[in-house]
Amino acid sequence: MRIPLSKPFINEDVRRRVAEVLDSGYLTEGPVTQEFEQTCAGFIGCRHALAVCNCTVGLEMALRVLEVGPGDEVVVPDYTYPATASVVNIVGATVVLVDVDRATTLIDMDALEAAITPQTKVVMPVSLLGAPLDYDRLNALKETYGFFIVEDAACAMGTEFGGKKAGNLADISAFSFYPRKFITTGEGGLVTTPNDAWAEWMDSYKHFGMGRQTTREDTVFDIVGTNYKMSNILAAVGQAQMLMIDELLFRRREQAAHYVERLAGHPRIIIPAIPEQGLHSYQAFCILIEERDRVMREMRAAGVEVQIGSYALHRHSAFRPHAGCRHSGSLEDSDYVFEHALTLPLYHELTEEQQDQVIEMLCRLT
Ligand SMILES: Cc1ncc(COP(=O)(O)O)c(C=O)c1O
Repeated sequence: MRIPLSKPFINEDVRRRVAEVLDSGYLTEGPVTQEFEQTCAGFIGCRHALAVCNCTVGLEMALRVLEVGPGDEVVVPDYTYPATASVVNIVGATVVLVDVDRATTLIDMDALEAAITPQTKVVMPVSLLGAPLDYDRLNALKETYGFFIVEDAACAMGTEFGGKKAGNLADISAFSFYPRKFITTGEGGLVTTPNDAWAEWMDSYKHFGMGRQTTREDTVFDIVGTNYKMSNILAAVGQAQMLMIDELLFRRREQAAHYVERLAGHPRIIIPAIPEQGLHSYQAFCILIEERDRVMREMRAAGVEVQIGSYALHRHSAFRPHAGCRHSGSLEDSDYVFEHALTLPLYHELTEEQQDQVIEMLCRLT
């Protein structure tokens, strides 16, 4: 493609830090991972940040520490990546799919409220593509109904609501460092929480159930755990990027502002709304258009890589109604967003001239 959709940010500092880890011979999780966790916690402003091998296992671990299991319901927006819902079934609970709001593409708060039952233990909102969730509404519902909020913050490093960063808004949040995210370790994730006891349990769970280690001989295994560690090698990649995150975010927001400035007045292009107190991190820049598939095909044929947004889960066999999956209310806005969302190229080195080429092609074809 002449203009790709995204491109990981890999500079000399990333290469140098990875080489240092390789030279050290300490390749598994260790001091570089801890340094990365501290940098992430400092940026987010959260009390605990645990690096894990991807966001999916981070979400699963979050449900496990909240003791979510058979008989419990977890509300998930229908328009998301399948991992958000899969983890609910993986821990044996029932996933309840609700509609999104087509204006924001995020969970519809009225649909969420209508889906709540005495079995609702957790709500998993998704800050999809880096878009901020309305935590005023979420917290008001949480107060009324008493559920936990586990944010699927896979795309939301740098996203904010009311001056607080994602990762510091929910009971537990899980981030992804998959390569389409602008902070990427190839594969990787991060779980954050303000709760000391949950952090301690998750830290043990991701280390085979180990208790606080003194020496190897003294090691105790307190719980049945698993291995969700992140290696020093991957953490070195993330650490180099996190040290530049303000600059990376500033550039993305500048590029997004250019798309908004040139596309906002277009009569056939809709830019999803964000709440007044929200700040987008633009993991991806998404628009809604008619004839999305034709436009996508023609832009790709002309050398511009564009992509759909996410998935309407209820259309897939795994998430049709079954013992572990319930659909609540209409899912028509999820269908609408699935059929109309288009993501445009966005990466650090993308120039304004390239953006203008994308914009002109899009406007010609729309
Ligand atoms: C919204 C959402 N949730 C979960 C995931 C899964 O993240 P990971 O690949 O790190 O497991 C992704 C990945 O792209 C995602 O976009």
